[in-house]
Amino acid sequence: MRVLQVASEATPFAKTGGLADVVGALPGALTRLGCTVTVALPAYREVFSARRLPVEPTGWEFDVPVGTQTKRATIHQSRIPGKDGAADATVYLVGNDSYFDRPTLYGGAEDYPDNAERFIFFSRAVLELANRFEQPCDIIHSHDWQTGLIPAYQKVLATQWPRLSKARTLHTIHNMAYQGVFWHWDMLLTGIDWRYFNWQQMEYFGQLNLLKTGIVFSDLVSTVSPTYAREIQSAPGGCSLEGVLSDRGDTLVGIVNGIDTDAWNPRTDPHLPRPYDATGVADGKAAAKAALAARLGQVAPDPRPLVAFVGRLAEQKGIGLIFDLLGRMAGSGRARFLILGTGDPRAEDGLRRMASAHPGTIDLVIGFDEGLAHLVQGAADMLLMPSLYEPCGLTQLYALRYGTIPIVRATGGLVDTVVDATDDALCSGTASGFVFDAVDGGALAHAVDRALALHADSDRWSGLVQQVMGQDWSWDSSARKYLRLYERAVAAAPQPVRLP
Ligand code: ADP
Ligand code: GLC
Repeated sequence: MRVLQVASEATPFAKTGGLADVVGALPGALTRLGCTVTVALPAYREVFSARRLPVEPTGWEFDVPVGTQTKRATIHQSRIPGKDGAADATVYLVGNDSYFDRPTLYGGAEDYPDNAERFIFFSRAVLELANRFEQPCDIIHSHDWQTGLIPAYQKVLATQWPRLSKARTLHTIHNMAYQGVFWHWDMLLTGIDWRYFNWQQMEYFGQLNLLKTGIVFSDLVSTVSPTYAREIQSAPGGCSLEGVLSDRGDTLVGIVNGIDTDAWNPRTDPHLPRPYDATGVADGKAAAKAALAARLGQVAPDPRPLVAFVGRLAEQKGIGLIFDLLGRMAGSGRARFLILGTGDPRAEDGLRRMASAHPGTIDLVIGFDEGLAHLVQGAADMLLMPSLYEPCGLTQLYALRYGTIPIVRATGGLVDTVVDATDDALCSGTASGFVFDAVDGGALAHAVDRALALHADSDRWSGLVQQVMGQDWSWDSSARKYLRLYERAVAAAPQPVRLP
């Protein structure tokens, strides 16, 4: 099976969140199952400046129509090395300096005003590129709004890319809250006939919606957990596209993300001062706590349990509940809190005020720091994830691998990956964290209370830690599910394109 993965980010080339982790790791898992995988990404400045893997020019250049203009695409190449004897995945980086040689991927506090144009260019360039591959691909697997045009282009402008006409398309939704909604005149930049700008296809309340476009035109649609697949078929989870999603019915599938067990491995993690496995977890965590304290300029590590949050400071992540929790618990002296994140400037300011009101109890690191995220997972005892909604979530899966017990709200992928530590679940060895339901700081505080109470019982706590560290969240089983989905798409007739 020849698979082309198309996305706006992938580790180790460019990352703002979990999408990058998925697109960075899934190709390797698919090559281990015998697929030939190619990945297409934008050639951002970060791809060249970070230089985590060698990136070479290919000499390929071609013109891409964007509205009435023509833009040049310059293609670079790299590889995601295969593991366990599997082949490498080829990575093509689609460049155009005016679009992608910028300080960040999508903009800062404000998105770049030409984001529609940037990803229209990218999507169309990827089809031009794939049409030049020696062997045509069987599956084009696109991700999120940035590549939502890919399934539409492959069908509506099929004659332009004859070597792609037999391919089937799968579009994966990582987050319904980001739909790529732009003013209607951007439709002209796509080169797709205006007749497709209708409420059943590309239009959304008078605007162009690129995620909706991907959902409507692709042969199969998936999202990143079974629970989220159900949630998005009704309000509010569907973010106004619940009708479009429920229309896709049994062609909408939920597959839980896996984790890259090499990048996130406490036994080999170069960011940990003393890498550890389940038997050495106490010493490993103590060493990580000492390193973290030193990194934060503290004289000695705090003996209290460390409760951490690592993530985007966005409403989605339950930042409001974290404020409420800190307000309730910071004065109690029962735990130390650490927040590592960046995002909403108001949340950043609020957290700064909260941290300075509780020195010695709340540590705050504003910024995006991959190495520190690993160290925090190693050092912390508990990880907070009180998300209002969570399509899958990777941070709780990393926590499980590092023996850090997640405290999560019962939503989306968190439901599918964390089992509440009731007495029964603890006895039967199925417990893996603390789960609460209500969107309420009191409910979160109660879950943290329960976690702290169990932590005080060191035998039971270490039993839970051993239990979660033994779980397997590697990509193997999820990649198999993707492969089955690809096989299903190839065996079925393509999703028909009709003008209403
Ligand atoms: P989302 O994709 O919604 O942001 P996930 O849990 O799926 O949430 O993935 C988040 C990824 O981004 C994880 O790899 C996490 O470690 C990383 N991450 C988020 N914020 C930061 C940060 N401030 N510094 C370092 N890594 C971060
Ligand atoms: C999104 C979601 C997150 C998911 C990630 C990767 O960013 O918010 O829940 O884990 O994509 O699929």
